[in-house]
Amino acid sequence: MALLCRSAALLCKSSRAAPLAVSAAHKYTTGGVTYDYIVVEKRGEKQNVGFIQLNRPKVLNALCDGLMLEVGKALDAFEADKDIGAVVITGSDRAFAAGADIKEMQNRTFQECYGGNFLAHWNRVSMSKKPVIAAVNGFALGGGCELAMMCDIIYAGEKAHFGQPEILLGTIPGAGGTQRLTRAVGKSLAMEMVLTGDRINAQEAKQAAYELTLAEGNRLEKRLFHSTFATEDRKEGMTAFVEKRKADFQDK
Ligand code: CAA
Repeated sequence: MALLCRSAALLCKSSRAAPLAVSAAHKYTTGGVTYDYIVVEKRGEKQNVGFIQLNRPKVLNALCDGLMLEVGKALDAFEADKDIGAVVITGSDRAFAAGADIKEMQNRTFQECYGGNFLAHWNRVSMSKKPVIAAVNGFALGGGCELAMMCDIIYAGEKAHFGQPEILLGTIPGAGGTQRLTRAVGKSLAMEMVLTGDRINAQEAKQAAYELTLAEGNRLEKRLFHSTFATEDRKEGMTAFVEKRKADFQDK
């Protein structure tokens, strides 16, 4: 996950060019498909950005099964559309998404979850063949944080808050949070967030991501440095220095 603190609003400005049919029942129809839980449009001057807005404002865009299936459907359509270069997934100013729908999960049994491979289809987002950008503001909690991390890039607004509060519900992250958060902000902070349910803001997330990148970069550099000791040129370079002569490198 790359996390950048930019105005999420910039990515969400409508070009107003795409035809969007809105019925009285708040169903959104685009490309012949009707969506109940998301708004789907083509945006940008060239109409080459696929735009998906999570649209359950009353429940802070809680990610019910139907919503995530619709996100998958919209991604399928954008992938098949040769004019689309990238996809943006966003929510509202108040909430990107406040997690999986707790009311929908409340009475699920182990057998239902295990037998039905609950949440498996969410992975569709991370399998997209086109770059997917999460434009996040407000709450990105639990499954909301996980959905953002499935995207290739996160642009976070100033009001963005990321968290994995599942522990406060007696469960754990179930859509990749334990794995992706560790890679995004490092093990220590990820452990703290998952074990306490505490949230971090966009600046803290960016800082943590930066520090992790630096640490990873340093590790990689060290390995590459070590690998120069397998070359004859490294030996020649140092030997030439010691012998006070010009090195005769052979690209070996
Ligand atoms: N599922 C279902 N409904 C939710 C929801 C969720 N994840 N989050 C919020 N809502 C609903 C609330 O029930 C409330 O609905 P009603 O008005 O009908 O009661 C409405 O959204 C507004 O929420 P609040 O009144 O609670 O708003 P608030 O501003 O006081 O608090 C909040 C906002 C801190 C985000 C709080 O709503 C909250 O803590 N939500 C739950 C966050 C959470 O635990 N997410 C993890 C879910 S589990 C998960 O995601 C598992 C996974 O790994 C996939």
